[in-house]
Amino acid sequence: MSNDSAAQAPQDQPVGQISPVTLRVGEHGEAAGGSFYEKIGGRATFETLVRRFYDGVQHDPVLWPMYPAHDLEGAIQRLTMFLEQYWGGPGTYSEQRGHPRLRMRHVPFKINPDARDRWLQHMRAAQDTLELSPLDDATLWGYFDRAATAMLNTFEE
Ligand code: HEM
Repeated sequence: MSNDSAAQAPQDQPVGQISPVTLRVGEHGEAAGGSFYEKIGGRATFETLVRRFYDGVQHDPVLWPMYPAHDLEGAIQRLTMFLEQYWGGPGTYSEQRGHPRLRMRHVPFKINPDARDRWLQHMRAAQDTLELSPLDDATLWGYFDRAATAMLNTFEE
């Protein structure tokens, strides 16, 4: 009696029931499963997130005066493109805006802990509506939390 039977496919199992193993997908050779961008729904998900975020920002007495009210659609597109690019989607942001240099671009705005907390509060509310899996939710949220803190440029009230 052979001892290596466990290493062989059972004789009576049809080949079709053995699930195929895919190590690479796509012409650019992303890991199986694709980018986080694709995983959570691509452009539609990020645009929904950003539009809902701005729904909240528009009612915020501290944040809203910082934003270009006449160009809300432009602001929506810039943040959406940036997030798409960051998470592995199209690189349209840098084609149109150059290197992100986010900290530098935020220098004109007074970002103290209150502004940071407000920004995060609106993003949290928007992200909740996406109903991501707990792991995807934590991945995205961990990033926003760190990025928003990195944008702090004053502790003045
Ligand atoms: C911490 C609180 C923050 C405040 C108060 C804030 C405020 C602003 C304001 C007033 C603008 C100008 C709007 C526009 O014309 O596009 C802006 C732009 C932008 N913000 Fe923020 N922001 C914050 C955090 C963040 C974070 C955490 C990110 C990224 C995850 C981010 C990404 C961007 C991007 C990509 C732009 C457009 C830059 C450009 O290409 O001109 N911001 N932000």
